[in-house]
This record gives sequence, structure tokens and C-alpha cells, in this order.
Amino acid sequence: MGKKVVVTGVPGVGKTTVINGAMERLAAEGIAYEAVNFGTCMFDVACKESLVSDRDEMRKLGKDDQKRLQQAAASEIAAMSADANIIIDTHSSVKTPAGFLAGLPEWVLRELMPDVVVLVETDPDQILMRRLGDESRVRDMEGARTIAGHQEFNRAIAAAYAMYTGCTVKIVGNENFLLERAIDDLVNVLR
Ligand code: AP5
Repeated sequence: MGKKVVVTGVPGVGKTTVINGAMERLAAEGIAYEAVNFGTCMFDVACKESLVSDRDEMRKLGKDDQKRLQQAAASEIAAMSADANIIIDTHSSVKTPAGFLAGLPEWVLRELMPDVVVLVETDPDQILMRRLGDESRVRDMEGARTIAGHQEFNRAIAAAYAMYTGCTVKIVGNENFLLERAIDDLVNVLR
């Protein structure tokens, strides 16, 4: 069986940047991982159904639509080779207008059964600045205190994921100017 590692973090914390760095490092050691973006799997279905025109609109959809898209993404990812090492780039919780939605509810966890859930975190001020610097996305405008609250909620809900699956929960700090340290931490989880 391959290893299944779920990597999460609030929007703009740098999940994808850390994942890409870790995969490059591991490839040089001959350890292959496939990275799959959960949001992209959801977005492909949402586009086919003409529900959204960009990925940032998905978290504003009704709860039932989001849950249906989640289920479709989880099934698609679960169908990938069981022998492959997989990194799933996703969210512990999604901030919707109706409140936090679990990124890995029971029906998603049952499909994925991860070995590890990684929380990528950093100071809320740094996340705010990264969001403001990224014009390619339609970010929610939030202050540092609200971002801190979202990171706290993500830790709490990750504990529930560990209770359900027996996975471990690893916190990886991704501070400004310390990207290499974050990559080292993730590589150690993936190796
Ligand atoms: P997704 O595309 O995964 O959303 P996202 O979190 O906004 O992802 P990003 O790629 O924008 O952020 P990132 O944290 O990867 O940061 P990045 O590496 O780009 O998901 C889209 C949507 O899908 C969600 O909104 C949701 O609706 C839906 N979805 C997904 N999973 C779901 C689930 N399970 N259930 C329900 N819905 C789900 O980096 C950001 C910036 O920071 C870059 O400019 C980068 O250069 C910079 N940076 C990174 N690290 C550092 C560092 N150490 N120092 C300085 N700068 C840094």
C-alpha cells in the first residue's frame, strides 16, 4: 500500500508551495509521490455542471452542493492506485457563508483513510500579506484575528479526524524566509 498524506491549511498559507518543494526533494532521492488537489477535482465537476466560473466561488455554494462535490472528489481520489504514494492538497475546514464546513467529513475520510493529516500554519499577519500579494485569486478579505480563529478551528477538527481514522496529525510551520525548514518537515513526514 502507498502512503496517503493529506496536507491542509488556510487559503494562502503556502500548502502548494511546500508540497512542490517536498516532492522535488523526494524525487531526487528516488521516492515518488503523486500530488492531487482536492479543490481541482471538485472544480472539474462544478464546471461541468455550470455551477461556478472560478474555484473561489465554490465555498459560496450551498452546503448540499459543496458536499456533493466533496463526495465526487473523494471517490475520484480513492480510485487512484492503492500502491501509489499520494499527497492530497486540501482543507481541514472551509469557511462558507453558513459557517465552517468540514473538509474531511466522515464520508470523505472513509474513502481516503489517510496515514497523516498535515496542518501547514504560520502567523496570521504573514498569511494576510501573502493573500494580498496574490492577484490570481479572489480571496476573502479577513483580518489577522479571523485567520487565527480559522487556524485554531482547523487544529480542533484535525483532532476529530485522528480519532476517526487513527492517523497522526503533524503541524508544519511555514514562516517567511523559512520555506526550506517547512519543506524539511514535510519531507520527514513523507519519507
Ligand atoms: P485550493 O485551491 O486548495 O485553495 P487555496 O487554499 O486557496 O489554495 P492556494 O493554492 O491558493 O493556497 P496555498 O495555501 O496552497 O498557498 P500557495 O502555495 O499558493 O482550494 C480551492 C477551493 O476548493 C476551496 O476554496 C474550497 O472551496 C474547495 N475545497 C478544497 N478542498 C475542499 C474540501 N476538502 N472540502 C470542501 N471544499 C474544498 O502560496 C500562497 C503564496 O504564499 C504564494 O505567493 C507563495 O509564493 C507564498 N509563500 C508560500 N510559502 C511562503 C513562505 N514560506 N514565505 C513567503 N511566501 C510564501
